[in-house]
Amino acid sequence: MSASGEVEAYLASERALVDAALREFLPPPEPEVPWLREAIEYSLLAPGKRLRPILALASARVCGGDLAEVLPVACAFEMIHTFSLVHDDLPAMDDDDLRRGRPTCHVQFGEPFAILAGDGLAAWAFRLVAERTPDPALASGLVCELAAGTMDMILGQVADMKWQGREVPRDTVRGIHRRKTAALLRGAVRAGAIAARAGEGALERLTAYGEAIGLAFQIADDLLDVGATSEELGKGAGKDAAKGKITYPGTFGIEESRRMARELADRAVEAALSLPGGTRLADLARYVVERKR
Ligand code: IPE
Ligand code: IPE
Ligand code: MG
Ligand code: MG
Ligand code: MG
Repeated sequence: MSASGEVEAYLASERALVDAALREFLPPPEPEVPWLREAIEYSLLAPGKRLRPILALASARVCGGDLAEVLPVACAFEMIHTFSLVHDDLPAMDDDDLRRGRPTCHVQFGEPFAILAGDGLAAWAFRLVAERTPDPALASGLVCELAAGTMDMILGQVADMKWQGREVPRDTVRGIHRRKTAALLRGAVRAGAIAARAGEGALERLTAYGEAIGLAFQIADDLLDVGATSEELGKGAGKDAAKGKITYPGTFGIEESRRMARELADRAVEAALSLPGGTRLADLARYVVERKR
């Protein structure tokens, strides 16, 4: 098997593990109010890449963690991420009608239910971690990590909307991307390590790894908006420039953005390989900038 085929196979098997856990951890059905769970299932179980939970698992594996202890928080990060997507697609924000190859949540269920499905995913994510982490000190640490990532994502989305259509200082672009996207990816990596009771040294290296891979991921997302089609991405492509979105290619140009993404991925690979058994994390860093969707 080729190296890239081998990474694809690893991703597919991790995705299957995450998908099974997501089903297990869904909020219980409310027979009198079934629509919330329908909308949540529709968006959460749609075919996403599951990168955040996969990163949490990879990080936990490097630290010798027990996967059963990591899966709830790994899935909680995917729930927060899905909440961010459902709200990001709303007419009041990016106004998109395609996500994960399907009509967006508000197109399928209407705006009120999409707003509420996002809210429900957020609330349930925190409950999941609190309930399924038996050690109270660990539960509190993981809840704080999830909350920090969520709050940064929200602040990043605020800045993304506020600056839309305006001239923006270059440093601000990095700040927006670090908050709106890198924070949750970094948080997922850290949560995996924390759940696996990593030592301080490993946590520090994994934090540097998560920071680099997180920013590289959003630069790659911006580049895909310019260079790929909606069919390839399963979401609307070629729309950022028209909407006046603040992006790396829009600010630094395509070539320079590619260079910056590669440099960040190299930094992540270096951090990964400084840890014993870090080759999978290194594979994931390369995947983030080479991916086609
Ligand atoms: C899309 O995230 C939104 C960003 C933060 C760039 P993903 O590209 O991870 O979306 P899914 O989860 O695979 O659908
Ligand atoms: C994603 O930014 C940030 C989120 C927190 C959802 P984008 O708006 O670029 O994400 P896509 O391209 O719609 O997936
Ligand atoms: Mg957006
Ligand atoms: Mg968007
Ligand atoms: Mg985008």
